[in-house]
Amino acid sequence: MRKFLITIILAVVLPSTAHAQPDTAAFRLLAPSEEAFISVEDVLLIAKVEGFSQAKMVEIFDNGKAIGFAPLKKGVLAHRVKLSEGRHELVLAAPDVRKQNVKIFRGKQEGYRYHIERDLSSCGTCHSGAGEGEYGMPSAQEKVCLQCHDAVGTGDFIHGPVAAGSCSPCHDPHGSKDSHFLHTTGKELCMVCHSQNLSKEHIEERQNADCTKCHDPHSSAKNYHLH
Ligand code: HEC
Ligand code: HEC
Ligand code: HEC
Ligand code: HEC
Ligand code: HEC
Repeated sequence: MRKFLITIILAVVLPSTAHAQPDTAAFRLLAPSEEAFISVEDVLLIAKVEGFSQAKMVEIFDNGKAIGFAPLKKGVLAHRVKLSEGRHELVLAAPDVRKQNVKIFRGKQEGYRYHIERDLSSCGTCHSGAGEGEYGMPSAQEKVCLQCHDAVGTGDFIHGPVAAGSCSPCHDPHGSKDSHFLHTTGKELCMVCHSQNLSKEHIEERQNADCTKCHDPHSSAKNYHLH
């Protein structure tokens, strides 16, 4: 009987508590990437809180030691930390947000590189309202990029995503550990969108051939985006 009652109480109570506490908010790390190797002392952390949170501050820990607080502006953290050489495990903590661990190795070799971030005011180059803590998606992404990279996508045959004005399916606008600030390299980059049967056969034929040896990822004067 007691067990039965408890079951009923749980059945009544659980859904309501579940309702009062929506999924825990979590950080989405935008820069640097996980397990980054970095050669500069100044490391810029960019993270966004996804989900509902009232947090206004993030506490940062470096290898278990609290090193200070940084403001969250409209759910976005953009903060520099100075790191000595060696391995660091940073933890971002805010009261109602799931903790985020960021592993960074600071050494001599260059791994992760930032795109353009010499000072935080440069965020406004691409994000209007960055000074007020607004980091919405840049409207007309390609226009933002073409301010400085005007030779991209000028051939007659323009590749699908470029024609649609988006660069970020392939490039990380903030930085990356791969060349040309790509999310990933080799055929993996292409397979995200080209895994349909026809291309699959062609891709298997080419095995691990570097796709960009023959195809221009942006545009070209020839059909099939060939060089
Ligand atoms: C070169 C242009 C550029 C610069 C400079 C830049 N960003 Fe971005 N940012 C983008 C683009 C493009 C996206 C969208 C990425 C995507 O679609 O995956 C983005 C996305 C974001 C997002 C996620 C937005 C969302 O709602 O999901 C945040 C937060 C952000 N940037 C913060 C910053 C901060 C902080 C800085 C400065 C340190 C900065 N950005 C500098 C281009 C830029
Ligand atoms: C304010 C000027 C500016 C804007 C806007 C800008 N970039 Fe850049 N970009 C640069 C500079 C400067 C470099 C060279 C930095 C380096 O190599 O360390 C660069 C380098 C790159 C490279 C690597 C080039 C190479 O030869 O390897 C890529 C790819 C790139 N940017 C993509 C983008 C994308 C995508 C956007 C839009 C989201 C964008 N850029 C917006 C200035 C800009
Ligand atoms: C389909 C994936 C993809 C898309 C979409 C894409 N790029 Fe690229 N981009 C690449 C690859 C791959 C390279 C490296 C080129 C190589 O390997 O020869 C590159 C190289 C670059 C470079 C350096 C070399 C060069 O061609 O100048 C710049 C700058 C650049 N991209 C900017 C952009 C901009 C701006 C956009 C959006 C208008 C964009 N990219 C969209 C895949 C892409
Ligand atoms: C974000 C999605 C996306 C990525 C990533 C992507 N593509 Fe594409 N690609 C498209 C779209 C969309 C089209 C246009 C649709 C079509 O013509 O089949 C296209 C068309 C093509 C075509 C021409 C097909 C034709 O029949 O004319 C080639 C070749 C191509 N892509 C090669 C590549 C290569 C190489 C890569 C990697 C560097 C790549 N794509 C990455 C979306 C993508
Ligand atoms: C040795 C040069 C070469 C390499 C390497 C190469 N391609 Fe191609 N690709 C071509 C040619 C030529 C065509 C034109 C159609 C044909 O002959 O099959 C083509 C056509 C395509 C097409 C459009 C037709 C289809 O099958 O859907 C896509 C998409 C494509 N390639 C993607 C890729 C990807 C992804 C890679 C990397 C794994 C790659 N290609 C590597 C030469 C190459």
